[in-house]
Amino acid sequence: MMKSNEVLSLQGVGKSFPATARGGEPIEILDSINLSLFSATSVAITGKSGSGKSTMLQISAGLLSPQRGKVLFSGQDLTALGDDKLSTIRSRSMGFIFQSSLLLDDFTALENVAVPAMIAGIPQRVAKKRAKKLLESVGLGDRLDHKSDQLSGGERQRVAIARALVNDPLILFADEPTGSLDERNAELIENMLFAMVAEKEVALMLITHNKAFALRCDRVYNLHNRSLEVVQ
Ligand SMILES: Nc1ncnc2c1ncn2[C@@H]1O[C@H](COP(=O)(O)OP(=O)(O)OP(=O)(O)O)[C@@H](O)[C@H]1O
Ligand SMILES: [Mg+2]
Repeated sequence: MMKSNEVLSLQGVGKSFPATARGGEPIEILDSINLSLFSATSVAITGKSGSGKSTMLQISAGLLSPQRGKVLFSGQDLTALGDDKLSTIRSRSMGFIFQSSLLLDDFTALENVAVPAMIAGIPQRVAKKRAKKLLESVGLGDRLDHKSDQLSGGERQRVAIARALVNDPLILFADEPTGSLDERNAELIENMLFAMVAEKEVALMLITHNKAFALRCDRVYNLHNRSLEVVQ
């Protein structure tokens, strides 16, 4: 058994935004958030619309900086790093899936998955081989050469999962990954995400409004009044 490593640690994270687009008294969104996430485990964040879930995810990925606290990724404080270092860490060690994941329209499913690996410096032939294997593992072995606008919504989400995993990330950030899918496709995507956590030992941070989906995670928190409440 591999030792489970701490991948992400939020320590006393606080975030506020200006009240309006023109500024004004800042409104506090997150207050003293603490969270640990380990490899091969999953954590779900639920909470009302506007409670700050996506803000917390963006801070965890170094896409937004908090006013207070630390964000340790593999022990390294993201809040102390510059944009270049952050984007390298994101492309090598983090995967992202959103409600409607943007794919490159003029590219095939295979290319969409291979491109991030090529950007990370993997030779094209190796990247495509890896992409093919991942697409097969999400049941799209017969859709490799379809352009992304020739795929259904559920198929596009599966391409997005394969793409998120192509650089063997330590963590997968999923913000409402099944929000735009019907029940059957949603369940397929859910099963795939948890399979990836188990097989690839990736850590999963999942944001969802779906209670049953959240409860499949090892830990569940509800973001409420700027703080995390333990649900499970
Ligand atoms: N860049 C920004 N500038 C100002 N306010 C912002 C900014 N980003 C988010 N907010 C505000 O912060 C609050 C939290 O937003 P966030 O997107 O994190 O909510 P959420 O929990 O993800 O909601 P949803 O479930 O609707 O996606 C909202 O009130 C939002 O208007
Ligand atoms: Mg959101």
